[in-house]
Amino acid sequence: MGATDTQAPAGAALPRHVAIIMDGNGRWAEQRGLARHAGHKQGIPIVRMCIEECVRRGIGALTLFAFSSENWRRPEAEVSQLMTLFVESIEREVPELHANGVRLRVIGDRHTLGVRLQARVAEAEHETRANTRLALQVALSYGGRWDILQATRSLAQAVASGSLRAADIDESRFGAALELAGLPDPDLFIRTGGERRISNFLLWNLAYTELWFTDVLWPDFGVDAFAEALGCFASRERRFGLTGAQRGAAASA
Ligand code: IPE
Ligand code: IPE
Ligand code: MG
Repeated sequence: MGATDTQAPAGAALPRHVAIIMDGNGRWAEQRGLARHAGHKQGIPIVRMCIEECVRRGIGALTLFAFSSENWRRPEAEVSQLMTLFVESIEREVPELHANGVRLRVIGDRHTLGVRLQARVAEAEHETRANTRLALQVALSYGGRWDILQATRSLAQAVASGSLRAADIDESRFGAALELAGLPDPDLFIRTGGERRISNFLLWNLAYTELWFTDVLWPDFGVDAFAEALGCFASRERRFGLTGAQRGAAASA
């Protein structure tokens, strides 16, 4: 399989797209007798490290789960502290992201975010829109089921208005209506914090993603742990439903 193929070859050394559930902030803080918010704050440098590692290693896309559609049900004080943290982080980090060629986009139900956060997001997306080194998606007020529903709704509207035939809805058209449109599906999924679940993250796009879990809490997730996840990914044989022999033949062709 040649280097120009769009499908990742078996055993590809480097993922093109990494998706991370950054979990364990609250427990990190509670273990130290601190307020949960201290754990969320402590997670910010880890976000920075992951972005830097992706840029340095030439990984083209990174999607981070920062706040789920279900996280709105947390205590009001924690939600509002998180929202303030998102605003402050965007304000502080965007100049450097821009300087490093990172394009930032928020995926999720952005209309549910406060007006100030919506404004900062729109500015950051506009400022970094032409950058090509790393596509960084931050999932805010995001749910995989919401994403599938909003795609379905937009396709249904197109059918109702006569611009699309129902028979023409295929995987590629459906994928183009989802939040990650235009990006390859994640090759590697990382979840910190010990839970072995997807928690309504990218339900459609994770169909063939390699899953990697660690008990390490997000604020303790260091550069070595990230390297370990990438190393594990490189050792996986991705078969996409084929036999190992078929994949081997394709890889050597
Ligand atoms: C992840 O950490 C951050 C968000 C969900 C916003 P948690 O806040 O879920 O931390 P734990 O899982 O309670 O330790
Ligand atoms: C998933 O973590 C969402 C984010 C990390 C933003 P949660 O802590 O909300 O997931 P559950 O509740 O343990 O499944
Ligand atoms: Mg959690």
